[in-house]
Amino acid sequence: MAYSEKVVDHYENPRNVGSFEKGDDSVGTGMVGAPACGDVMKLQIKVNPLTGVIEDARFKTYGCGSAIASSSLVTEWVKGKTLDEAAALKNSQIAEELALPPVKIHCSILAEDAIKAAVHDYKQKHGAAQVH
Ligand code: FES
Ligand code: FES
Repeated sequence: MAYSEKVVDHYENPRNVGSFEKGDDSVGTGMVGAPACGDVMKLQIKVNPLTGVIEDARFKTYGCGSAIASSSLVTEWVKGKTLDEAAALKNSQIAEELALPPVKIHCSILAEDAIKAAVHDYKQKHGAAQVH
């Protein structure tokens, strides 16, 4: 399978790998798994509590190259975004940017689920969880 240059770039030079210190109140964590393949992704956001803007992000992915590339891209995209803007990110935008083939679409869904879960976690911690 031929991967796009952007996938290869994010796979070989993943951005923002790692995690924030435990107990940091300004961090939201999303941990999700992909039923299709059993891969796991952890994505964290660091939020300015005054502005609600995401200032930094980290990820760890125990998954395929497309999952690594998707999460790397998302950690770059969400910086400077509000929580709601970040939660509105669609996997189709990720898949399009990375030109993912159809069999790898679920890897971008994993990244969408992870950022949504991180935003939800932050909001819950700060008593602003949305009613679903
Ligand atoms: Fe693991 Fe797709 S095969 S997430
Ligand atoms: Fe499972 Fe990509 S995340 S194959």
